[in-house]
Amino acid sequence: MINILRSGKPAQLHRGFSGVMYRDFLAALSRKRQSRNYLEVGVHFGDALAGIACDTAVGVDPDYRLQEDVTGNKRRTLLHRCTSDRFFAETDVRALVGGGIDLAFLDGLHQFEFLLRDVYNTEAVSDRNGLIALHDCMPLNVEMTTRDPAAARTDPFHAMWTGDVWKLVPILKAYRPDLDVVLVDCPPTGLVCITGLDPDSRVLSERYREIVQAYRDVPDPSDRIAAMYAETPVVSSAAILNGEDHSLYFRV
Ligand SMILES: C[S@@+](CC[C@H](N)C(=O)[O-])C[C@H]1O[C@@H](n2cnc3c(N)ncnc32)[C@H](O)[C@@H]1O
Repeated sequence: MINILRSGKPAQLHRGFSGVMYRDFLAALSRKRQSRNYLEVGVHFGDALAGIACDTAVGVDPDYRLQEDVTGNKRRTLLHRCTSDRFFAETDVRALVGGGIDLAFLDGLHQFEFLLRDVYNTEAVSDRNGLIALHDCMPLNVEMTTRDPAAARTDPFHAMWTGDVWKLVPILKAYRPDLDVVLVDCPPTGLVCITGLDPDSRVLSERYREIVQAYRDVPDPSDRIAAMYAETPVVSSAAILNGEDHSLYFRV
């Protein structure tokens, strides 16, 4: 599965994923889990949000470019035009939706410290049996992992800029071994599904500075990303959706 071509550019870390497209997987998951309260950070055109079925959906994005009817299959859709940091600082999410978040899709700014904050802020307002999905944490090559999206333009996959959010996988494994972190084979660049949530945990927020210092500068991430794939099996999205027993894959 892992194929590191050090001689050629771009060095390939994974040959690509052939599972269920990420937005179709999330749509099916929202139905399968009978989601009540859904949160999406980074909505953009609304492609993913449009397919979600739930009671209350909350979207957060400072720069919407909606092209889809994001209100379909929902009783109410609450769109906040602001950054996720501002949203979490200003919003009592439990009061807003009338309970905890049971399904979240985090797809905002693709620099790992932003996603790290989105993860711990989302976990704090989630149900214990909720699921948080992270986008773009499973890069196919190193070029798409630059922190600066402009620098990724020489990469033939530049339309799939992932930034360095892949770091969340090793970070969660190191600092939150109590979480279940599953890599799912959704094209184009995977979905990382987190369950076993602990809304009372403050490990990530209290150790935030230490984590950012430790992970910010990774001069050549090839080996670390290859290790991530070697250590963590990539699970079939079709098997998750078709399986009767979700507990095979996620903490329930
Ligand atoms: C890749 S797009 C989201 C695509 C969408 N989730 C989907 O799959 O259809 C990323 C979005 O994140 C938004 N974004 C950038 N910085 C953000 C931040 N700090 N907080 C929330 N959203 C942010 C951008 O405006 C952009 O619309």
